[in-house]
Amino acid sequence: MKKVKNEVAIVAGGSGGMGRAVVKKLLDEGAKVVSADLDIPKKRINNNNLIYYKLDSTKQDSWNKTVKIAIKNFKKISILVNCFGSNFRREFDEQNLEEWKKILDVNLTGVFIGIKTVAPLMKKGNKGSIVNFGSIVTLKGGRNGPAYQASKTGLIGLTKSTALSFSEYNIRCNLICPGHVDTDFIRENNSYSPNDWSTSIQNPKNYEERKSQIPLKNFQETTDIANLTLFLSSDDSKMITGSIIPIDGGSSI
Ligand SMILES: NC(=O)c1ccc[n+]([C@@H]2O[C@H](COP(=O)([O-])OP(=O)(O)OC[C@H]3O[C@@H](n4cnc5c(N)ncnc54)[C@H](O)[C@@H]3O)[C@@H](O)[C@H]2O)c1
Repeated sequence: MKKVKNEVAIVAGGSGGMGRAVVKKLLDEGAKVVSADLDIPKKRINNNNLIYYKLDSTKQDSWNKTVKIAIKNFKKISILVNCFGSNFRREFDEQNLEEWKKILDVNLTGVFIGIKTVAPLMKKGNKGSIVNFGSIVTLKGGRNGPAYQASKTGLIGLTKSTALSFSEYNIRCNLICPGHVDTDFIRENNSYSPNDWSTSIQNPKNYEERKSQIPLKNFQETTDIANLTLFLSSDDSKMITGSIIPIDGGSSI
């Protein structure tokens, strides 16, 4: 029995490393999916149950259009995965206001707008699962990157508020907190999450340093994250809401 048969998902951030794995997992388990992202990938999955759509998560209008496409093609929305993100890795003194605003806008306000736009549709169907993406810094403080840390701890409040606000409509909301996952986010020099040699895990020193912080001794794979997201999206987790769940090989202990 497929786990999310008859469900329709928007995976916001669906072109990212974790996003692609989540899209694939939800499709494999029977869902219809809108993969929405700033970036539409060149290499795409060919599947009648999948639509790629351009989304800027910081813009209400962009969310409205994404929801419209989902309803037009698949008639409802019952799963929302918010796995987009932005970071500018700086010490406190170096993090400027522009970066602060951008990171908060993408990581926190973007999730708020997404939930506000999708929740009315979930209410109609009297069912919904929202999975937000935090980070290790949601659970464990660090010296660097005050904006990223504030945005990812802010998601605790947003997740709990969502869970309580919509529980009467059978809408659940949970926050997963990945640890170290080898994706473009911590590897490449992206506009939304720039890395140079001093931060990228292409630098063997950074790779080893991150690895040494993981009690289970390995980076998490994108499929690990997709498996947890599937669980939280499906009825297997029907009594789980407002939870903050680390998936980090023990790094946040
Ligand atoms: N990679 C890690 O080690 C790690 C660890 C902890 C938490 N996270 C979090 O996990 C999530 C997924 O990260 P990932 O590793 O897959 O990163 P990734 O860089 O592979 O993907 C991130 C995606 O977000 C998209 N995006 C950025 N800004 C956007 C916007 N305004 N609107 C729409 N899409 C936007 C990008 O285009 C990209 O496709 C993020 O929230 C990140 O903060 C990552």
